[in-house]
Amino acid sequence: MTARRLLVTGSNGLIGSEMVAHFHDLGWDVHGLDNNMRREFFGPAGDTRWNQRRLVESYSRFTHHEGDIRNRADVAEIVTSVRPHAVIHTAAQPSHDLAATRAFDDFDVNAGGTLNLLEAIRHVCADSPLVHLSTNKVYGDAPNRIALRELPTRWDYDDPAYVDGIDETCPIDQSKHSIFGASKLAGDVMVQEYGRYFGMPTCCLRGGCLTGPAHSAVELHGFLSYLVKVGVSGGVYSVFGYQGKQVRDNIHSYDVARFAEAFIAAPRVAEVYNCGGGRDNSCSILEAFDQVRALTGRAMQWQYLDRAREGDHICYISNLSKMRAHYPQWDITRSLNDIFKELVETWTARVEAGRAAGARSGG
Ligand SMILES: NC(=O)c1ccc[n+]([C@@H]2O[C@H](COP(=O)([O-])OP(=O)(O)OC[C@H]3O[C@@H](n4cnc5c(N)ncnc54)[C@H](O)[C@@H]3O)[C@@H](O)[C@H]2O)c1
Repeated sequence: MTARRLLVTGSNGLIGSEMVAHFHDLGWDVHGLDNNMRREFFGPAGDTRWNQRRLVESYSRFTHHEGDIRNRADVAEIVTSVRPHAVIHTAAQPSHDLAATRAFDDFDVNAGGTLNLLEAIRHVCADSPLVHLSTNKVYGDAPNRIALRELPTRWDYDDPAYVDGIDETCPIDQSKHSIFGASKLAGDVMVQEYGRYFGMPTCCLRGGCLTGPAHSAVELHGFLSYLVKVGVSGGVYSVFGYQGKQVRDNIHSYDVARFAEAFIAAPRVAEVYNCGGGRDNSCSILEAFDQVRALTGRAMQWQYLDRAREGDHICYISNLSKMRAHYPQWDITRSLNDIFKELVETWTARVEAGRAAGARSGG
């Protein structure tokens, strides 16, 4: 029997590369589309070619396609030649803050690129499930209207309705999204529309903080991985507003891939899911500093800047009830402790390898 074919856009990135590995292990032939635009967005620290090389060397049924999601002809050509049985769309300009200075690039990648992919799939393989990586920034700063209370190390909801977090009924308009949140919302609504209007099996995963060892983390994107990188390498971490008590919920890329597997096995039409780590995997920045110190034995060095990022969430915890109800075999398998431990190990090895390479070259 010939293997089923998966197309992953943004395959060099954190989530894309996890999808490649996961579905390859499940027996799929996997095709990746990427052009390393993360380097163009974030400079050398954002370069993803190392991850592309790792995938090509480690996974024999993985094929890399160099292509630009903004290029309609590229996307149509790849979808036509691969004729995928399923598609996972992770290619993006992923930074909330960068988007304000790169509005055209941000919109062309996040909104235009998503439309290019949807049209190509509709014409070539409309029955193939599409998993689209969206973001909780589609809710703009509406979550900040929930009553909050300040605890010693974090903000939390002061309303029992939100004890399990924010669900998919949160309003998406009339709030401040950031330019990134608005372009991602355009893509998210289009993905839903191709489901409702054309009957295509699509879903949007509205990510909280997605993390894992394959992130080419930079200050402007990759919250937890970047924080651990700074902690391990002895740099200074900048905290923007909210006393460092802002809360994020963190999900390992492996658990995102497991959800994509469940959706593709039993797809639905035009669904949206809040996809984060939930309350158990939530932490504030101050709490994250404590975790890094406990694992490295070194206190985090940080500076406080008394200005919050535009449209930033004060406390965001994803309510995972809908994911669990629709796919009861799915749940979080990697705890926050597992995530911190793996990130500290990964960054320690990378920082030491970098220092050794510097010493060899006489730097
Ligand atoms: N990481 C998070 O915390 C987080 C949170 C919420 C949502 N998301 C969403 O998840 C998705 C994946 O995020 P990630 O963390 O893996 O990001 P990432 O930057 O690690 O991966 C994205 C990949 O897309 C590629 N890419 C960018 N522009 C491209 C273009 N024009 N053509 C082809 N490839 C292009 C990049 O080179 C990169 O390899 C994105 O849609 C992002 O918005 C991420």
